[in-house]
Amino acid sequence: MANILVTGGAGYIGSHTCLEILNAGHSVIVLDNLSNSSEEALLRVQELTAKSLTFVEGDIRDASALDQVFAAHQIDAVIHFAGLKAVGESQQIPLTYFDNNIAGSISLVQAMERAEVFHLVFSSSATVYGESNPSPYQENMPLGMPTNNYGYTKLIVEQMLEKLSLADERWSIALLRYFNPIGAHKSGRIGEDPQGIPNNLMPFITQVAVGRREKLSIFGQDYATQDGTCERDYIHVVDLAKAHLLALDHRLKSKGCRAWNIGTGQPISVLQMKNTFEKVNDRKIPFEFVERRFGDLASFYADSTRAQTELGWIAKYSLEDMLVDSWNWQKQNPEGYKK
Ligand code: NAD
Ligand code: UFG
Repeated sequence: MANILVTGGAGYIGSHTCLEILNAGHSVIVLDNLSNSSEEALLRVQELTAKSLTFVEGDIRDASALDQVFAAHQIDAVIHFAGLKAVGESQQIPLTYFDNNIAGSISLVQAMERAEVFHLVFSSSATVYGESNPSPYQENMPLGMPTNNYGYTKLIVEQMLEKLSLADERWSIALLRYFNPIGAHKSGRIGEDPQGIPNNLMPFITQVAVGRREKLSIFGQDYATQDGTCERDYIHVVDLAKAHLLALDHRLKSKGCRAWNIGTGQPISVLQMKNTFEKVNDRKIPFEFVERRFGDLASFYADSTRAQTELGWIAKYSLEDMLVDSWNWQKQNPEGYKK
């Protein structure tokens, strides 16, 4: 039984992870500035688990807010989700991304050091492999240059954490490189609730299905893939959430900094996503092909052998489960957490 600080815990992946942590019998303290989330998600996590958590509204860049959290709770480890994640926006306002994601992470680890808490799980991304590595990506490949500023912040924070753990052996850090998280908790009570027009494929499809958007635009149909549309490695958010608990367990027993890919290893195309969604949910998704989206890679997917052998993690949910659960969340909550 541990006390775990979850930064960004009110967000999409964070809320699903809080649920798993509570169910595993640990205590959760969430620090979130609610810049891209709603406290309602945390109320629902507590309702689903019949357990309570502590919520602190605050920013990871606020040193005194962090010090207060560490002083008030005997924190054993931190799972760090807080950050901005919109790829397109990161090209428009890079400094905001550098400040939130890079300076925010520095502020967090400084506060951890002051409080002598040295166990950390960081939300990284497959984007750190850059353009030049072939799929399946393996953790020991040399990292590349991400195609956008958001990805760049993940690369910088990863490298910073690695250097920190080399300089000070008290640290034990997990870098989880997520592939494409989709899906929602089976209950349909928590899920992904993007603000404005979704950037990502899955919420766009479910918003078309629920009637909030007219049709899906598929970005490019002439990639060198099985059907000409881009391929990604989609992973159920509940499988991803569980990986955090296993990584935490692993880190509580060892030192240093270690990266793990969290993906299924299956490349799935955009057309396959649309067609499978239609089939399993019996909903038509009107669509059109449009130009390629700048910065998109044709195909990438994980080799997750390391997570299997070292963490004992395995993806349990199928693509069909992911698409059913995404739709279940969206149809129960057509306007997300607002209604
Ligand atoms: P999300 O936006 O739903 O969650 C992020 C949370 O952090 C939000 O609740 C937001 O309010 C909070 N936050 C942002 N800046 C903050 C700050 N300065 N201080 C305190 N709280 C702050 O996003 P998500 O999809 O749950 O992603 C969680 C993490 O995983 C992010 O770091 C993201 O970059 C990373 N990630 C996400 C994906 C994905 O496709 N969803 C893929 C790879 C990595
Ligand atoms: N796509 C469409 N239409 C849409 C949205 C997406 O055709 O309306 C396509 C994209 O072109 C891409 C695929 O669907 O081929 C998946 O796109 P997403 O935006 O859902 O996901 P990405 O793989 O582009 O991005 C994800 C994360 C980023 C991360 C990146 C690399 O969202 O945070 O993987 O790891 F940086």
